[in-house]
Amino acid sequence: MLQQARIRNLDFQSKVMSAEDAARLISNGSTIGMSGFTGSGYPKAVPLALAARIEEEHAKGNPFRVKIWTGASTGPELDGALAKTDGIEFRLPYNSDPIARQKINAGQMEYFDMHLSQVAPMAWEGFLGKLDTAVIEISGITPAGELVPSSSVGNNKTWIDIADKIILEVNAWQSSMLDGMHDIYYGTALPPHRKPIPLVNSDDRIGQPYFKVDPSKVVAVVVTDAPDRNAPFSAPDETAEAIAANILDFLVWEAKRAGLPPSLLPLQSGVGNVPNAVMAGLIDTPFEQMTAFTEVIQDGMLDMIEAGTLRMASATAFSLSPEKALYFNENAARFRDKLILRPQEISNNPELVRRLGCIAMNGLIEADIYGNVNSTHVMGSRIQNGIGGSGDFARNGYVSIFMTPSTAKGGAISAIVPQVAHVDHINQDVQVIVTEQGLADLRGLSPKQKAKLIVEKCAHPAYRPMLEDYMARADKESYGLHAPSLPREALSWHQRFMDTGSMKL
Ligand code: COA
Repeated sequence: MLQQARIRNLDFQSKVMSAEDAARLISNGSTIGMSGFTGSGYPKAVPLALAARIEEEHAKGNPFRVKIWTGASTGPELDGALAKTDGIEFRLPYNSDPIARQKINAGQMEYFDMHLSQVAPMAWEGFLGKLDTAVIEISGITPAGELVPSSSVGNNKTWIDIADKIILEVNAWQSSMLDGMHDIYYGTALPPHRKPIPLVNSDDRIGQPYFKVDPSKVVAVVVTDAPDRNAPFSAPDETAEAIAANILDFLVWEAKRAGLPPSLLPLQSGVGNVPNAVMAGLIDTPFEQMTAFTEVIQDGMLDMIEAGTLRMASATAFSLSPEKALYFNENAARFRDKLILRPQEISNNPELVRRLGCIAMNGLIEADIYGNVNSTHVMGSRIQNGIGGSGDFARNGYVSIFMTPSTAKGGAISAIVPQVAHVDHINQDVQVIVTEQGLADLRGLSPKQKAKLIVEKCAHPAYRPMLEDYMARADKESYGLHAPSLPREALSWHQRFMDTGSMKL
């Protein structure tokens, strides 16, 4: 029954098989393009079956490892299970799974951390190698044999187009009301044939609701009924609320200064609890009929839609808490004409982010006094997640805001340091830095002016005198005085933390 309701095409019905049988179609050394973005819309049965198979082969002493490409982060059934078996040889473009993170940081898994908008074009351009198999979660198959996407679109269109063979997971847990919510654009091309993307408003629809697929490439259809990962959001704490309040004050001030409309400009909100708290705060602002042109739809955005402050949101995936995911599934009809899910090469497209003038709001690990931002590598070498879409939006938005608590690890680490130990966003791409201490608007400032403002507004009082002391000495002893620095000392805060467990003197 379930099968017929979701798979409305006889040819595809004849390809239904178990996840175990489907996993047997994947061989050692394969490159697999999986669906999945921020814990939604990833395949849940075939990766688990593949992990079991890899474990069996390893127990027999046989080698078995695969290369995994996705949209972004997935879930424990995919990254977690495959990493646990040491089954992943190479992974791109974004990971937040703790087991995979541990393997990458232990040097046991290669990882290519890249801008999310660039994955599909690079795959087409052939830089990433050949894609053997696509394993894609969908929510249904139409009578005409087109694929109804699920709770994320990510790179699925590209994986389906370029893979030699395709395994589909039809997930009945996904709301059937997702049908019609997607906008799959087939007009992209490679240089020199690339044309402007005809999207001028967040709510423009420029594509079609379904993925096209060559049925002869589909080797298996697996039916599942399993929820997305959906990590819970913690209720905003005092720090998150203070950061959100600083950003909201800035947006009100900026709208007045620049004469922005009451709907502001399209919002982009990064992953995590703090961006979610900012969204929650926007419910009570003077803005109205706002739009979002962003990567993921979080709880806060659904609340804003229900409150009427957000008119619509365009993204590539959901990233909801378990309660909100359930709520969405029960009330999807209410949101259907207010949400659009697009391929990530469109949701994160630099051309579109620049054209629309998005307000980019992302998290950071550390920033330095000159406004360079490290979003990815703790102490410069240990990857946390990846750059994700933050670079796509930060360089191209109307204004690029980065936010963080001013300290980490109970105060042992300052988020504001003399020099970041790894750079993801150069200071030219970072216009506003916000902590619970305050907000530094860096637009139009020289390096020394930026340093003064960042330390004064954003640094924690426990670290402010240390930073002021560093700046005063650098001002006297530096080789050049444009962006004064003391190279021998600039990374000593990180070294001290690694040696003593604290950046404090
Ligand atoms: N030094 C060492 N560790 C730090 C740190 C620092 N300066 N700042 C944060 N951390 C640690 C935290 O202690 C925490 O560790 P834990 O998991 O062991 O508790 C972890 O990093 C996450 O930090 P948290 O404060 O919970 O922040 P978050 O969930 O808001 O994530 C980023 C912050 C930067 C990791 C996250 O925003 C990210 O991955 N960004 C890059 C991708 C991105 O921006 N995507 C959105 C684009 S649309």
